[in-house]
Amino acid sequence: RPALSLDPMAGLMLEEVPLARIAAAHGTPVWAYSAATLRRRAGMLKAALFNAGLDASIHFATKANPSLAVVNLLAGEGLGADVVSEGELHAALAAGVPASGIVFSGVGKTRGEMRRALEEDILQLNIESAEEAAILSEVAVSMGRRARCALRVNPDVDARTHAKITTGLTENKFGVPIAMAPDLYARMCAMPGLEPVGIAVHIGSQITQGVASYAAAYQRLGDLVRELRAAGHPVLRVDCGGGLGISYRDETPASPEALAGAIRAGLGGLDVRIMLEPGRWICGPAGVLLAAVVIEKQSSDRRFVILDAAMNELLRPAMYDAWHGILPVAAAAFHAPVSPADVVGPVCESSDTFARDRALPALPPESLVAFLDAGAYGASMSSTYNARPLAAEVMVDGARFALIRERQDHAALLRGQRLPDWTG
Ligand code: LLP
Repeated sequence: RPALSLDPMAGLMLEEVPLARIAAAHGTPVWAYSAATLRRRAGMLKAALFNAGLDASIHFATKANPSLAVVNLLAGEGLGADVVSEGELHAALAAGVPASGIVFSGVGKTRGEMRRALEEDILQLNIESAEEAAILSEVAVSMGRRARCALRVNPDVDARTHAKITTGLTENKFGVPIAMAPDLYARMCAMPGLEPVGIAVHIGSQITQGVASYAAAYQRLGDLVRELRAAGHPVLRVDCGGGLGISYRDETPASPEALAGAIRAGLGGLDVRIMLEPGRWICGPAGVLLAAVVIEKQSSDRRFVILDAAMNELLRPAMYDAWHGILPVAAAAFHAPVSPADVVGPVCESSDTFARDRALPALPPESLVAFLDAGAYGASMSSTYNARPLAAEVMVDGARFALIRERQDHAALLRGQRLPDWTG
């Protein structure tokens, strides 16, 4: 994690900024993202696709981190956006992503969302069922438009990831079975409100078992492209989805070069524009969640480190048993003796546990810890459970840092609520 380093005086640093300075300026819990890491990773992906000779565009999956500053920075690097709700579409546009770089994915787009997407004239909507195709066509016709769309197919390949984030098996709700795709694509081409432009796939997230499942999916897509074209249908684009994993602990995910190779093997030479929808790979390693120790508690046989961050900030450990590195921030703590500790939050749920038996030094109240690789599906999955306001977010760039999201205050938690003023 090149953006993180240990300074013998200042302790843990993100780029050239001591994390302790960020906590002092903006309090805890607080998210901090490295701009250099975001830029570098966007650049690495672009280079891998380019070097594989692919005509490709990258659409950042904003669900991983919809922060305006993050999406704006990535837009500056030439990335578009993959959005899954009108809220994300609104945020992507507000962040400066051109409509022509926005893809709308998701199994349950409402008519209102379709309308907004068509009004904004985004690049394409990815259709996930025959039922949805019919509705999109109807909505587009009512607006006097034709909707550029791709058909998301479910290739029935096992991405070999956590069951809660695998999406490319027939048992999952996503896409249409690949065997049904030729017939549906033909019907879509005949619908008055649709302009089919290609096909899409996304087999899962945090894929770390090599590129074999990607390769299998892209082979099947390549066959499908040939079959559709043989039937006389236009196929201009293939959206290859996201899913490239990162190393939270000791996983060894495939490289962008290997992914690009799998795309080339399955789809190269077909004269299609390749699209990619990565989220986690770009922003996960760029972010940390900084928290302060509230208190350490010793029960009969366990040591508990209780933080001011909780499952409502970082949900991944509670939801997926996910592992995140946890480091102390103070320089001295790196030389102190360690003992196993359970790292927990203050929320009233036993699942509010970040880690069990983690080797950590003594952590007196108010000392800081950093959760690593928290830039993806961290802040974006936060809630206000236990009436805990959403945490602040900060971006670091070289020796500078800037607040990119204010900490919510308690008044904000009550905003929009009222005691009943009954009618009827
Ligand atoms: N495209 C589509 C259609 C998706 O559903 C997703 C993620 C992505 C792209 C981006 O996938 P990525 O490159 O980030 O793996 N909350 C979970 C991850 C859920 C992913 C959902 N879909 C987690 O924290 O692990």
